[in-house]
Amino acid sequence: MSFPRCDRTAAWAALQGHFQAHGRGLDLREAFARDPARFDALSFEAPEVFADLSKNLLDAATLHFLLDLARECGLEARCDAMLAGAPVNLTEGRAVLHTALRAPRGAAPFSDEVHATLDAMLAFADEVRDTTRSVITDVVNIGIGGSDLGPRMAVAALEPLARSGPRLHFVSNVDGHDIDAVLRGLDARRTLFIVASKTFTTQETMANAHAARDWFDAQGGTDRAAHFVGVTTNLKAAAAFGITRTFGFWDWVGGRYSLWSAIGLPLAIAIGSANFRAFLDGAHAMDLHFATVPLERNLPALLGLLDVWYRNFHGFASRSVAPYHQGLHRLPAYLQQLEMESNGKGVDLDGAPLPYGTSPVVWGEPGTNGQHAYFQMLHQGTDVIPVEFILVRQPAHALADQHRKLLANGLAQAQALMLGKTTEQALAEQAPTASATLDRAVLARHRTFPGNRPSTTLLLEALTPRSLGALIALYEHRVFVSGALWGINSFDQWGVELGKALCNALLPRLGSGDVTGLDGSTAGLLKRLVG
Ligand code: F6P
Repeated sequence: MSFPRCDRTAAWAALQGHFQAHGRGLDLREAFARDPARFDALSFEAPEVFADLSKNLLDAATLHFLLDLARECGLEARCDAMLAGAPVNLTEGRAVLHTALRAPRGAAPFSDEVHATLDAMLAFADEVRDTTRSVITDVVNIGIGGSDLGPRMAVAALEPLARSGPRLHFVSNVDGHDIDAVLRGLDARRTLFIVASKTFTTQETMANAHAARDWFDAQGGTDRAAHFVGVTTNLKAAAAFGITRTFGFWDWVGGRYSLWSAIGLPLAIAIGSANFRAFLDGAHAMDLHFATVPLERNLPALLGLLDVWYRNFHGFASRSVAPYHQGLHRLPAYLQQLEMESNGKGVDLDGAPLPYGTSPVVWGEPGTNGQHAYFQMLHQGTDVIPVEFILVRQPAHALADQHRKLLANGLAQAQALMLGKTTEQALAEQAPTASATLDRAVLARHRTFPGNRPSTTLLLEALTPRSLGALIALYEHRVFVSGALWGINSFDQWGVELGKALCNALLPRLGSGDVTGLDGSTAGLLKRLVG
C-alpha cells in the first residue's frame, strides 16, 4: 500500500493556493454574517459527541480541498489497514489494534484472547470492589506514561461512579516524594498494588514497585501474592518480581492506547465491570463511526484535517484544550502523551526529514481555572492558538446555578475569542479599574481584542462511561488522521530512548562524582549536586 506524502499531492498545492487567496483572510464574524446557516453546515454528530466546528477558520472550499487531501493520501485505506491488523507500526513491525480491545466478541482480530483477559480482569475488579468479598480499602496503581495517564484521567472523570468502591491512588514519578505521599496513611493489610507496565522494565515503575514491596514488608504485610498484581506483556519479568496474579496484554497495544486493556484495571475497580463495559462500548461506537461514516461527516477525520490545516497552512504550533468539567482535569495531560508522543516525529515512513510541522503543542487546564491564568494570552497575545472547549450539558451534582455559570463561561470564552472588541468599542466604554489619567485612546488600544481567534466546541450530554469512551476514541482517531496525512509513524516513540540511555550512564556518576568526559554544563551541575 503506497500513497503520496501530503506535500506531494495535488490537493496540497490547491490548499496552498486557497490559503493565499482566501484562507488566511477568512474573518469569522463576516463568515457568520454572510451565511446564517454556518453553524448547521459546520456542526457534526458522532456517537455521544456533538461538535461545533463553525468557529474555525474554514469554509466549504477549505473542507473540499482538505477532503481531497485525505483521499489522495489514502486515509480510508490506511484506516482499514489499521483496523484489519496490518503492521502499520512499521519501525517496530507491529499491528496497531487497540480498537480490537473494545470490539464485541468475535468482531475483531484476537477476539478470544481479548475477551478471555477482559472477563478475568473484570471479575477480579468486581471482587476487589465488593466489600463482602474483599478487605481492600485502597488501591495503588504504579505505572507511568500510558500505564498511568489513561486510568488516572478516567478514574477522575468518572469519580461519581467510584464512590462505593475502594480509594484509588496513582504513583508515577520516580521522585520518591510521589510514592512517599501516597503510602503515608495506608494500611498494608488493606492495600492492593497494581504494578502496570507494558515492558515491566521502566525505571520509574520498577523503582516505585520495589519501594512499595519494601514498604509492604516493613509494615508487616503478609501474603504479597494477594496484595500485588501485575498488568504487563512481560509475564516473565512480573513473575521474577514475585507477582503471581497477572493480567496480560499484547505488543499490538501501544502504551498510550492501552487504557482499554488490562491497563484499565484501576478504572474497572473504581467503576465496576458493567460501567467498564459501557466505556468500551462508547469507544467501539466511535470506532464504527470512524470506519464507516463518509469523510464529509466523519468527526475524527474532520478534526484531524483541521489540525493539518492549522499546523501546516496557518502555521499554528499549539492547541489548547479547555474541558469545562472538573472531572476532566487530567484530560490535557492524557492528550499530551496521546498526541505529542504519537505525532511528535520529524521523518516520514521512509526516514526522510519532513519539510513541514507535525504535532502541535497540546496543553490546557479545566475551565474556568484557565481563564484566570493564561486566557489573557489567548485573547490578546501575539500568537493565535486554537482552543478546544469541551462542554457537558448535564452535571453529576445538583448545583444547577453553578453549572449554568460554568456553561456560560465556556460559551463566553469561545464567543470572546471569535468576536473580539474593536478599539472603537473599547473607546466607548468606561472601564471602572482603568487609569483616570492615561490618554483614552492609548487605553482603548490596550483594551482592544483582535478577535477572529478559532475554537472548536465539543458537547457531551453527560460525562458517563460511554461518552468518555467515545470522546477518548475520537481523540485517538483524530491523531491517527493527522499522522497518516503527515506520512509519519504515529505508533513508535524512539524519541524517549536517548534520555533513558544517558540517565543510565549518569546514574553511577551521581554516586562517584566522576565527571570525566562529560560536557561542561552537565559536569558543572553534577559537581554541585554531588559535592
Ligand atoms: O515514555 C515512553 C513509554 O514507553 C511510553 O510510551 C509508555 O506509555 C511508558 O513509557 C510506560 O511504559 P511501560 O508501560 O512499559 O512501563
